[in-house]
Amino acid sequence: MLVHSIVEVREQIKKWKKEGFTIGLIPTMGALHKGHLSLIEEGISKCDKTVVSIFVNPIQFGPNEDFEKYPRTLEEDYKMCKEAGVDLVFAPSVEEMYDNFSTFQPFNHSTSVVPPYFYTDILCGKSRVGHFDGVCTVVSKLFNIVQPDFAFFGQKDAQQLIIIKKMVTDLNIPVEIISCPIIREESGLALSSRNKYLSEEQKNDALILNKILLNIKSCYNSGITDVKHLTETSYAFLNNNHNLEYLEFRDKDDLEEKKQADNDTIVFIAVKVGKVRLIDNILLA
Ligand code: PAJ
Repeated sequence: MLVHSIVEVREQIKKWKKEGFTIGLIPTMGALHKGHLSLIEEGISKCDKTVVSIFVNPIQFGPNEDFEKYPRTLEEDYKMCKEAGVDLVFAPSVEEMYDNFSTFQPFNHSTSVVPPYFYTDILCGKSRVGHFDGVCTVVSKLFNIVQPDFAFFGQKDAQQLIIIKKMVTDLNIPVEIISCPIIREESGLALSSRNKYLSEEQKNDALILNKILLNIKSCYNSGITDVKHLTETSYAFLNNNHNLEYLEFRDKDDLEEKKQADNDTIVFIAVKVGKVRLIDNILLA
């Protein structure tokens, strides 16, 4: 079932809740790939009813980011959801989600959810100011609309996942967050809707993210824990086609920076290949 309005979602959810069904939500921005599909499959196996939301959320994009050109493929996405066994696809318009929306000034008009700066002014939040406020605002709206028992997020966006878990704890939102592993191409490249922007040559350059992470993990496994050393070794992998935005070692729960790597460390990397900004990460445990 494909619905576009909040009222229709609420009606369906009410019926399901009355029958005692558990509900799983997978929030997405569409352009679905096997990474999304893995979350959907996890949702279907764990919950009686599965809802996928498809919404390119304008308030999580900065003014110079790719909101306009972000791939929108609703027809294919819906087909993929239907074939996978999703019960409800919610694809609202911007107007349905944001009353009186005026581009990039939503915070002048409505209440927003602002996670702590400690979590948001680092890593992706450094270059994407306001991004996680936009993510938390839309995700909490989706939680209120769908009222799921479980919600599924990918470790691909580890900072996002950690921030959403924090929001759910801090605001006592009655949902269990399930984290799902990163799905990769055979080459090691993490699947992302933004991979569509890459040429074949750039796709090859993009393999550097996973290569660096795997090298760090194997150095760590051989006993090297000094972050400075692990970072410097990684620079050798980069060439002129790579613009490294960050390579950081942080705690898997509270994003505290590490000087010595341990089993609770996630290594986060962001690299620009041409104009395309790619992220990846690995848990060292
Ligand atoms: P989107 O980028 O569409 O991602 C939706 C979900 O799919 C996220 O939880 C993301 O981590 C997960 N995902 C993407 N690529 C993955 C991969 N290769 N392996 C495993 N999981 C993967 O993230 C967003 O949308 C938005 O910020 C959203 C949470 C929907 C709020 O607008």
